[in-house]
Amino acid sequence: MALYSETVMDHFRNPRNVGVIENADGVGEVGNAKCGDIMKIYLKIKDDIIEDVKFETFGCGSAIASSSMATEMIKGKPLSQALTLTNKAVAEALDGLPAHKLHCSVLAEEAIKSAIKDYYDKNGIEYDHSQFPDCESCGHCCEN
Ligand code: FES
Repeated sequence: MALYSETVMDHFRNPRNVGVIENADGVGEVGNAKCGDIMKIYLKIKDDIIEDVKFETFGCGSAIASSSMATEMIKGKPLSQALTLTNKAVAEALDGLPAHKLHCSVLAEEAIKSAIKDYYDKNGIEYDHSQFPDCESCGHCCEN
């Protein structure tokens, strides 16, 4: 059986929403301390809806495919819905990731949350801090 699904390969070869949004309303950057991969997410937000989203990922193929899929899953959605996106849902939408690559999808979930948090902070919007993991102490960093 192939290590990666067709969907993973498709999003890796033709990633959606790659790039930068100038004057983004929220920017989130997370890194994985062990593998050194970095993901940056830019959000354009209007009336609590994610009007546009772009990403830059300096990382492995699974991280690129996860960013691509995750951005597709939150585009046009309310922030409250984007905040519920889990790495598990991203991995499922990719028709699975190898077990030792699941942590790559965690970067996508965390980068989106970090970008939304940035938007809330910049605009003085109150939020429930328990919705946002503290990336410094996150235990999801890769072992491979
Ligand atoms: Fe680092 Fe995939 S995110 S190996």
